[in-house]
Amino acid sequence: MAGKVFIRTFGCQMNEYDSEKISAVLARAEGLTPAANAQEADLIVFNTCSVREKAQEKVFSDLGRVQHLKRANPNLMIAVGGCVASQEGGAIVERAPYVDVVFGPQTLHRLPALLAQRRASGQPQVDVSFPEIEKFDHLPPARVQGSSAFVSIMEGCSKYCSFCVVPYTRGAEISRPFDDVIAEIAGLAAQGVKEVTLLGQNVNAWRGEVESATAKGGPARADFAELLYFVDEIEGIERIRYTTSHPREFTQRLIDAHAALPALAPHVHLPVQSGSDRVLAAMKRGYTSLEYRSIVRRLRKAKPEISISSDFIVGFPGETEADFEATLTLARELAFDGSYSFLYSPRPGTPAAELADPVPQAQKLERLQRLQAQLEAQSRAVSEAMVGTVQQVLVEGPSTRDAAELAARTGNNRTVNFPGGRELAGRFAALRVTEARHHSLRGELVHAQ
Ligand code: SAM
Ligand code: F3S
Repeated sequence: MAGKVFIRTFGCQMNEYDSEKISAVLARAEGLTPAANAQEADLIVFNTCSVREKAQEKVFSDLGRVQHLKRANPNLMIAVGGCVASQEGGAIVERAPYVDVVFGPQTLHRLPALLAQRRASGQPQVDVSFPEIEKFDHLPPARVQGSSAFVSIMEGCSKYCSFCVVPYTRGAEISRPFDDVIAEIAGLAAQGVKEVTLLGQNVNAWRGEVESATAKGGPARADFAELLYFVDEIEGIERIRYTTSHPREFTQRLIDAHAALPALAPHVHLPVQSGSDRVLAAMKRGYTSLEYRSIVRRLRKAKPEISISSDFIVGFPGETEADFEATLTLARELAFDGSYSFLYSPRPGTPAAELADPVPQAQKLERLQRLQAQLEAQSRAVSEAMVGTVQQVLVEGPSTRDAAELAARTGNNRTVNFPGGRELAGRFAALRVTEARHHSLRGELVHAQ
């Protein structure tokens, strides 16, 4: 089936990563090339998100909008993957009978086979199983453009926060083997990659066996902190990021790695969700606000310039004004940078969806706005404090707004636009920040590396 594929991605970075892999799997098995839009595609893939209700409903309305394309192109296939697919399975085909294939986050490598079965049988195909680590073994090797790449090091989540669908849709935590992770990163470095972001729902839950670590005994058990030291050793890798980490496994060894490894970017995304111990317990997060504060304090001691961003859920069932105030206070005291906050969305099948919830929606919305205004002001203060400083940045390429300029990324994950020659793309450079804008910075070149 030569032709074109259009992939629409919803949700988190894991989904972005999976979409790239879907594209690679289809290019290898079917020779499909990317389509510029759904109209010119022979295959439309929706890679979906179900973490909040809004995202989930959007999938069905968007599916409805491409249905008519089948009339113009009778060979057009429509596939639905990701977390909505995982959760709904065959129900998607019942609600939208024009869908040809439903596949889950752990079966995306089977997509070519599912399409072939669909063609041969004339029947829609559904496979949302969790065949353990099989997915990693069947993905094409990473191919990159540019100097930055994502590497998935673990899949799934076994934390079962009471509000979250991820453990049900992506399955249990499984670590990718140590040798595979290192081999992939070394391969990327050989293609010119200088920055890697280690990806997972809970990257610091990663565990692996390192053969080479012990000359005499058998393989040694390694944790995420140790993995970082090994990645740091790979020739050519100059900056390491990771996301998302979980406070529960944020060990002192991981904190020490931030002090010991200059390549580790001075930025950590560490979702706290709430500042109230009562709410944290009801969410089953497995830490108190004091424990969370202790991690942040030790991280800042290890690396004073570190920027810490977080996720918050506002309006969890039964959240009182005092609970919410505790969240505001925590966010302010810990001086969070670049954070996300969401209105709690009850997800079918999760324990929190069964809880009584007397808090009126209008009050929840008002709290969300207050938190967002505060977080926004905090981020702005960080940006403004950067004006006049010299930052080590990785130049990504032409700026999206003005192709005559370049866009670069700071250690604390901000985009800086600056005038400069194309030859700087893919290189590290020192920039002086000249201005803080709404969601980006402006700068000028001090020197290129
Ligand atoms: N693994 C991450 C962690 O350690 O918390 C979170 C992964 S989750 C896909 C991303 C974010 O979505 C969470 O941090 C949380 O703030 C938000 N989220 C998850 N379930 C939600 C729900 N039912 N309603 C609103 N926000 C939710
Ligand atoms: Fe979800 Fe909690 Fe895991 S937020 S992804 S169950 S750590």
